[in-house]
Amino acid sequence: MTDIKRIAISTGGGDAPGLNAVIHAAVYAARNRGWEIFGIRDGLEGLLEPQNYPDGGLMKLTRRVVRDIAHLGGTILGTTNRGNPFTRQNGSDRAAELIQRFREHHLDALISVGGDGTLAIARELNEKGLRVIGVPKTIDNDLDSTAVTFGFDSAVSFATECIDRLHFTAESHRRVMIVEVMGRAAGWIALYSGIAGRADAILIPEIPYEITKVAAHVKRKTANRSRQYSIVIVAEGAKPVGGGVTLREAATAGHVERLGGVGEIVAAQLRERTGKETRAVVLGHLLRGGQPTSIDRSLGLTFGATAVRALAEGQDGVMVAINPPKIDYVPLKVATAKLKLVAGDGYGVMTARTLDISFGD
Ligand code: F6P
Repeated sequence: MTDIKRIAISTGGGDAPGLNAVIHAAVYAARNRGWEIFGIRDGLEGLLEPQNYPDGGLMKLTRRVVRDIAHLGGTILGTTNRGNPFTRQNGSDRAAELIQRFREHHLDALISVGGDGTLAIARELNEKGLRVIGVPKTIDNDLDSTAVTFGFDSAVSFATECIDRLHFTAESHRRVMIVEVMGRAAGWIALYSGIAGRADAILIPEIPYEITKVAAHVKRKTANRSRQYSIVIVAEGAKPVGGGVTLREAATAGHVERLGGVGEIVAAQLRERTGKETRAVVLGHLLRGGQPTSIDRSLGLTFGATAVRALAEGQDGVMVAINPPKIDYVPLKVATAKLKLVAGDGYGVMTARTLDISFGD
């Protein structure tokens, strides 16, 4: 038996399709147990800066509030990737204040839905005494300890649809289309949309590329008169051998660096080396928008229900994880210890190589 009566749920970091499904299921699971459940606005901001919110930063969640949200993109609670209570405001640490707020509101536990940054904050709060369950979210799919994160399937599905569309225009103009996708330090979105979208080359952070090799591959594949166009997928974190990532914005206090721009660079280099017309397309935040696919919806619903069940079972300081055929609980410490990156000898990369897709290596 548990002494839980009131819990909170928050969504932190970049949004991902499926967040509302998690909230929906968590509310149903909590209400079924007679618990009250509140949503914290904008990650943890609602608790830290309640004066900024008409409802005091906490949204009472009932079945009626969440009844029709499971299929919607985004998050009804709002989110932020600037709200780390351990590093904000000139380095001052507001974690103790935050935990005090939980106590004042008689909140017995937090369900923290987020990626590596948000879950690292959740782990620290847990170490300081707050009861926490983590839920893995990110379109990047870079969280270790879970086979997959929700948001990833929606991002890959949309990227694949975009690549399918680009085949027509690329073929009509006999161009090389370069498609830059998100993913930070991980190449999962690039790899799986590139395979599904029948790309000729996929450049990912895990396999540094040589532009001369990419160009030679594109030239060889477009030399065939029946297919004079090419599609190259570039992960935003891709880097050349011996080089670094391309940044849009360097890191500032309390905010991580912004990646992006490598697609344009690769396009210019391929134009020069192949003599073909090139165009770069950046899919960017379109990958985070839109409705969750049925896979992400069911995963989100499963995670939301499981997070509440974990609390009812007395779990604490763990992340729910799917490792088929099981749903596991993994200590937050383990789940946030390292990122899950694409393995150079994994089946995804091997499949791509079989399909004559170059990684520029
Ligand atoms: O972590 C998800 C992600 O979409 C990354 O792939 C990307 O680099 C980042 O978020 C962009 O975040 P922002 O919302 O700050 O532009």
